[in-house]
Amino acid sequence: MNPPASAVSTATDGTIVVHSYLRPGEERTLAEDVLDGLTKPFKELPPKHFYDTRGAELFDQICELPEYYPTRAERSILVLHAAQIAHATGAGEIVELGSGTAEKTRVLLSALAAAGTLRRYVPVDVTEAMVRRCADELTADFGGLHVHGIVGDFERHLSHVPRADDEPRIVAFLGGTIGNFTPGARRRFLRQVARLLRPGVDHLLLGTDLVKDPAVLEAAYDDAAGVTAEFNRNVLRVINRELGADFEPEAFEHVAFFDREREWIEMRLRASRRMHVSIPELGLEVDFAAREELRTEISAKFTPQRLRDDLAAAGLELTQILTDPAGQFALSLSTPTG
Ligand SMILES: C[S@@+](CC[C@H](N)C(=O)[O-])C[C@H]1O[C@@H](n2cnc3c(N)ncnc32)[C@H](O)[C@@H]1O
Repeated sequence: MNPPASAVSTATDGTIVVHSYLRPGEERTLAEDVLDGLTKPFKELPPKHFYDTRGAELFDQICELPEYYPTRAERSILVLHAAQIAHATGAGEIVELGSGTAEKTRVLLSALAAAGTLRRYVPVDVTEAMVRRCADELTADFGGLHVHGIVGDFERHLSHVPRADDEPRIVAFLGGTIGNFTPGARRRFLRQVARLLRPGVDHLLLGTDLVKDPAVLEAAYDDAAGVTAEFNRNVLRVINRELGADFEPEAFEHVAFFDREREWIEMRLRASRRMHVSIPELGLEVDFAAREELRTEISAKFTPQRLRDDLAAAGLELTQILTDPAGQFALSLSTPTG
């Protein structure tokens, strides 16, 4: 196990510890992903590189957009059922993967606090500023809460999640982020997550967006105000800044469509004309043909059966599935089969 690049206790009373596993220069494996992704026959980049500080702010704005229903739908499920989740799990700890601002998580933390079990919160996110901010805000708002923050990549750094104590834990993976994995990688990832859980004691709380009218889905990823388009282009700004590239983000059009066969949304960036891009830090020259597309995200949508099958393939048994009143989004509880 690698030691953290930095381990900082930011509260004098010891309630906050933040460990960072992203070393400068090794940031989120950006260089490898760009080298690999931009030299493929069909260019693609993984979505985690959207989220520098600006990208995280843009995502926050997306969550407020009229077209972007997932955040509101997931929040409404939590508001309706958090007390029941607290009761069903008896959890003293929440480990949250891709925690972001932890806005919705507050609803669950409040329910655990009301049940008298809340003790520790472990946010895991690639955006350091987010982890630090939510550690400060949550310890201020929830008296006695301990925060063990992990600045890292949930695909590479799960082994650094602290061991569970005696109390039951919830591992939360909200926002439908699980949909960003392709189906095979998704099951592999769920198997790794399952290792953080003790059979019959701990639970995975998983947020999944549901298959629905393609027009509703496509609008959610292509809003009228153009915030999602800005978020999409942000990955090019990240590459310009971190790797000295000369992408012209404005020369790329935002594309979002629902692939009806695979039942996932794809976001792409389409070159508006022929372009040549230099990425000096990688010694890489990349050509784009006019209208060539670069895939930047997939977001898989689920049916209850797909969810059940994926969880079963990862050794997890679905114990509860909760949906919002409009049936747009699902939150499920599952536990390792042993
Ligand atoms: C779609 S947002 C969801 C945020 C929040 N959980 C919610 O439900 O609103 C995805 C979050 O996961 C983080 N993230 C994306 N890929 C990650 C990775 N590989 N490792 C750790 N965090 C990641 C991003 O920084 C961002 O905060």
